[in-house]
Amino acid sequence: MISPIASFIRVPDGPVGVTILGATGSIGMSTLDVISRHPDKYRVIALTANSQLERLVALCRDFKPQYAVLVDSNAAEKAGSLMKEANLNTQVLSGIEGLETVVALEDVQQVMAAIVGAAGLRPALAAARAGKRILLANKEALVMSGKIFMDEVRANNAELLPIDSEHNAIFQSMPPNYLNGLEKVGVKKILLTASGGPFRDADISSLEKVTPEQACDHPNWKMGKKISVDSATMMNKGLEVIEACWLFGTSPDHIQVVIHPQSIIHSMVAYDDGSVMAQMGNPDMRTPIAHSMAWPERMKSGVADLDLFEVSRLDFERPDMNRFPCLQLAYDAINQGGTAPAILNAANEVAVQAFLDKSISFTEISGIIARTLDQVANEDATTLAVVLDADSSARKVAHSMAYGV
Ligand SMILES: NC(=O)c1ccc[n+]([C@@H]2O[C@H](COP(=O)([O-])OP(=O)(O)OC[C@H]3O[C@@H](n4cnc5c(N)ncnc54)[C@H](OP(=O)(O)O)[C@@H]3O)[C@@H](O)[C@H]2O)c1
Repeated sequence: MISPIASFIRVPDGPVGVTILGATGSIGMSTLDVISRHPDKYRVIALTANSQLERLVALCRDFKPQYAVLVDSNAAEKAGSLMKEANLNTQVLSGIEGLETVVALEDVQQVMAAIVGAAGLRPALAAARAGKRILLANKEALVMSGKIFMDEVRANNAELLPIDSEHNAIFQSMPPNYLNGLEKVGVKKILLTASGGPFRDADISSLEKVTPEQACDHPNWKMGKKISVDSATMMNKGLEVIEACWLFGTSPDHIQVVIHPQSIIHSMVAYDDGSVMAQMGNPDMRTPIAHSMAWPERMKSGVADLDLFEVSRLDFERPDMNRFPCLQLAYDAINQGGTAPAILNAANEVAVQAFLDKSISFTEISGIIARTLDQVANEDATTLAVVLDADSSARKVAHSMAYGV
């Protein structure tokens, strides 16, 4: 399959209009930090959040977007009053429809897709349908609906640039003509790096007792809670294997996960001639964000220079599937195909939330996902309705296991 990611270049007149989905989150805030360094190049057209209205209103004070969206309608109503009190002209919308509206506006050229989880799927698809440059952080959208999503990108001449630091590194390490198919351009393998998270060296028998606070305490990255837990179970890497298959038109057996605890190499591409191209940098999401926004040019991101003398060494290990069963489950799901990745993703979202709610232990997360995959029928993922149905069935099954109701 040929991936349409970043297949052509658009040069807009004047500052590029940007909508940020998930503006109040970790990626959203890093995006705003990058934008604030380049007021001549970018202008914020719309900012969105789920329910954190005070934070969103504060961002509207700073960036003066035309639109703000709060998915929660009560929060949207309150935000509307706060905007008036603050004499802001930002129009407040609500619901998924609000998200779908602000990605498709004519003034918007780039959409940062940084909502966490399946909730980001519909607005990301709407951005693809509107033919925008999609800066994709929300990997769950592509995991759930891979073929449907890529088909929409291609059919509408949208551009898809990966924000995940690993996929961004792979994109930077690929040959220019990789859209012709990886085998044809001499690419042998993708080496997808992983930090191994906070429990890489922990005694496996101690994992049953770890707390959400320990699981969210990532050694190298500061991220939202869900992706932090996913990093601790390595489901995050599993989701990234699936994401890489769709973005780069390859199969899971061409993707090797490599644990690299320092998170300095963000991923690599191995070639038939023995070359291995790597992209390196400090672990700071502003690098892939600035790269994807400016591509094919470069711009400053605010990230400190990499000091190799301070880093001094780079280590690599094979992942242990006994320690990280979620990684194996993700490989199995993409190999099964159909709606299995959507079921995996939904069960994981429910199980991670149950762990954060202290309803289940850390080690129960993988068991709930495995049993949900066994219980929910795998269908051909031919339409969005089929995918959303699988997502909803998996959530019900996983929820009853995780919360007993
Ligand atoms: N953080 C990283 O370094 C990193 C790196 C690579 C990839 N990613 C990916 O980027 C995405 C965002 O991660 P994050 O760490 O930035 O998450 P986060 O800090 O938890 O932020 C999530 C954002 O999504 C919004 N949101 C949550 N639920 C929503 C819903 N149901 N409908 C609409 N909006 C909703 C939140 O709004 P409220 O604030 O109102 O709740 C917030 O703005 C994830 O897919 C993650 O895997 C993150």
